[in-house]
Amino acid sequence: MTDELYEKGMLRLHWAEMHTPVLQQIRERFRKEKPLKGLKVAMALHTEAKTGILAITLAEAGAEIRLASCNPLSTDDSVALALRKGYNLDVHAKKGESQEEYYKNLNAVLDMGPDYIIDDGADLIAMVHTTRRELLPNIKGANEETTTGIVRLRAMANDGKLEFPVMAVNDAKMKFLFDNRYGTGQSAFDGWMNATNLMVSGKHLVVAGYGWCGKGVAMRAKGLGASVIVTEVDPVRAIEAKMDGFEVMPMIDAVKIADIIMTVTGCKDIIRKEHFQVMKDGCIMGNVGHFDNEINKKDLSSLSKKVTRVREFVDEYDLGDKRLFLIGEGRLMNLAAGQGHPAEIMDMSFAVQALSLEYLVKNHKDMKNGVYTVPNSIDVTIAEHKLKAMGVRIDSLSDEQRSYITGWQEGT
Ligand code: ADE
Repeated sequence: MTDELYEKGMLRLHWAEMHTPVLQQIRERFRKEKPLKGLKVAMALHTEAKTGILAITLAEAGAEIRLASCNPLSTDDSVALALRKGYNLDVHAKKGESQEEYYKNLNAVLDMGPDYIIDDGADLIAMVHTTRRELLPNIKGANEETTTGIVRLRAMANDGKLEFPVMAVNDAKMKFLFDNRYGTGQSAFDGWMNATNLMVSGKHLVVAGYGWCGKGVAMRAKGLGASVIVTEVDPVRAIEAKMDGFEVMPMIDAVKIADIIMTVTGCKDIIRKEHFQVMKDGCIMGNVGHFDNEINKKDLSSLSKKVTRVREFVDEYDLGDKRLFLIGEGRLMNLAAGQGHPAEIMDMSFAVQALSLEYLVKNHKDMKNGVYTVPNSIDVTIAEHKLKAMGVRIDSLSDEQRSYITGWQEGT
């Protein structure tokens, strides 16, 4: 079984390798130049195949790596084993960690005394500012992968509590425009299909939140034939959703007609007691936000007479007068029940990670404590590589056109 699991992990890594051309190009350069030589990098990302390729890339750049998962349910055990056995990497992750095991693994990663952190959700960064403060003097900087993490870190920076520079990888164009929208749009349904083996077409599907991730989920739900309803608290985003062709209404009204609900907000208690009480029998709920607090499981349990696992990643809550279903324990269903974003997407996101880390290593001495935007030159470099890999050519400006659009003297 262990051999089979190892082989499966190696195959998944090789497949991811084959479909991440931009990262492979960076890997090739890093292997020669060794920009991370002698540095310790603590990583908390979803431990699956694409993450594995990033970890291998950083190790080949000369770094000592330790990797844990940033979610108790998002580890692909086959990949974790292949990284340990096939690549000799220090991986502290397994699928289905208890809360205690989750923090034990994050602490094990931090025990290396990192120079840099690569985080997804900001748990490692929060820990070195609270329970593991002894590590702060050695830390030169960090990268943060996701919207939720950036929100947390900006709050820390605003309170004057952030004690090193952090690159907002999420906010790079080559990350959020593709990963958040097309990545989440596809992987949410990878999780849905794997968890339920049920139709989307012909159903009322409620998307909570119309940020970049919510936009992707709504777009793909529409493409799969669902009648899509969006709920929002932001008036501008609500108009965007309406003009994109979706129904918009308050959650309390939406849940009454929902067959499927997907939360994608980054906020807590989006679905709570008052909503469960008026839902239809058979409604299936899943979360695609970073933390498992968008669907209030305490409220759901308190209303239920019995909870039964009815499929590998689906729990049935029996409320007496109706049954409600929850995918992946309310943890992000695209990784708890699916395999995460497609490799072609993570190719761009993890290229931003690799180049942002290189940037931090080169520039950290001149950077103040705070959250930094990834330089536009990194976005452009990655976009150019990606276009080439996709076999797409584009036009370029003539000198005359360039002086026209950068000048002010010439009108029509
Ligand atoms: N695979 C690795 N990291 C991921 C992320 N943040 N979202 C989706 N899939 C991923």
